[in-house]
Amino acid sequence: MKVFFNLVFLLTLISCSKPTFVEDKVFAGSNQVKAHTLNEGEKIYKEYCMPCHGVKGDGKGFASKGMKVPPRDFTLGIYKFGKVISGDLPHDSDFFAILDKGLHGTAMLPWDLHNDQKDAVIQYIKTFAMKTWEGGDKKLGDQIKAENDPFGMAHLGAAIAKGREVYHVTAQCQSCHRAYVNLDDFSAMSKKLNDESVNELDDDFYKIKLQESEYGSLTIPPDFTWNTVRSAVTVEELFVRISAGVGGTAMPGWQETISDEEIWAVSYYVKSLMDLKDTPARAAFIRELK
Ligand code: HEC
Ligand code: HEC
Repeated sequence: MKVFFNLVFLLTLISCSKPTFVEDKVFAGSNQVKAHTLNEGEKIYKEYCMPCHGVKGDGKGFASKGMKVPPRDFTLGIYKFGKVISGDLPHDSDFFAILDKGLHGTAMLPWDLHNDQKDAVIQYIKTFAMKTWEGGDKKLGDQIKAENDPFGMAHLGAAIAKGREVYHVTAQCQSCHRAYVNLDDFSAMSKKLNDESVNELDDDFYKIKLQESEYGSLTIPPDFTWNTVRSAVTVEELFVRISAGVGGTAMPGWQETISDEEIWAVSYYVKSLMDLKDTPARAAFIRELK
């Protein structure tokens, strides 16, 4: 009898330590991943990521309750902050950047892991969305790079002035985000760019308009002087984000609609708004709009 129990104990031990992955995989972008890497990634995931992203990768971990910005559901296979046009598959380097820098203003903090640990956990989270990732024929999106800035610090004033026009007239970012100009300035800009004067502002001109998303929750187009921008701090990072859009949300990739020069300009302008956050100057700036 004793021998029998010992045997059961031994078998349980063996089955517990049996690795989840026995075969290597090929992921999008002809990325060959060893079974060993995925098993390592699973261990790291269980230790560090599972409390929020959940046992099943569905974003419903025990620590996720009540979070204003819910952890990503990895089973959907869609991602917000790739440096690729919204909807395309991000590169591993994009995931690395998110692990290194975190997503500002959310519970997703920067992680101090070794590069091989980061790589392993990144490969592992793809296994929650095999249909999206598995297969040598699957392609990653074209990488968007912040290159050929036509302004630079020497032309900061000109960049911000142009960006303000792009934001409010050319792209009408305030159709989701809020506006930051008064009626007179808006009318003058519309006259200059479209030969149209404006006599009245929409009721929600200064409001942020919540948007539906593919994640099953509403997303907030940030007020740049008040909310935290998650994936960008510098003008270059803003250029990439505004070009790419935010995957699975209403925030479109502007690369397809306006010129690179206009995106650079609006990046400088948004950065100037972000610089007002948490300063006494913000209150005065907002007051003067009315
Ligand atoms: C304390 C909670 C928490 C922990 C722990 C956590 N995350 Fe997150 N994670 C989040 C939240 C919240 C978001 C969503 C942010 C958003 O939508 O802006 C997120 C988003 C992500 C994204 C999505 C990025 C995109 O472009 O859509 C990835 C990838 C990610 N986390 C990976 C990880 C990995 C890997 C770990 C473990 C090393 C981890 N997270 C641990 C809360 C957490
Ligand atoms: C159709 C609605 C819509 C329009 C138009 C729009 N946005 Fe957005 N934008 C959003 C939403 C929604 C988010 C929040 C996505 C999220 O993080 O969940 C967002 C987020 C952002 C972010 C923050 C990204 C981050 O890393 O947190 C920036 C910067 C931004 N938008 C800039 C712009 C600019 C500049 C324009 C105009 C050129 C613009 N948006 C037009 C809906 C829109």
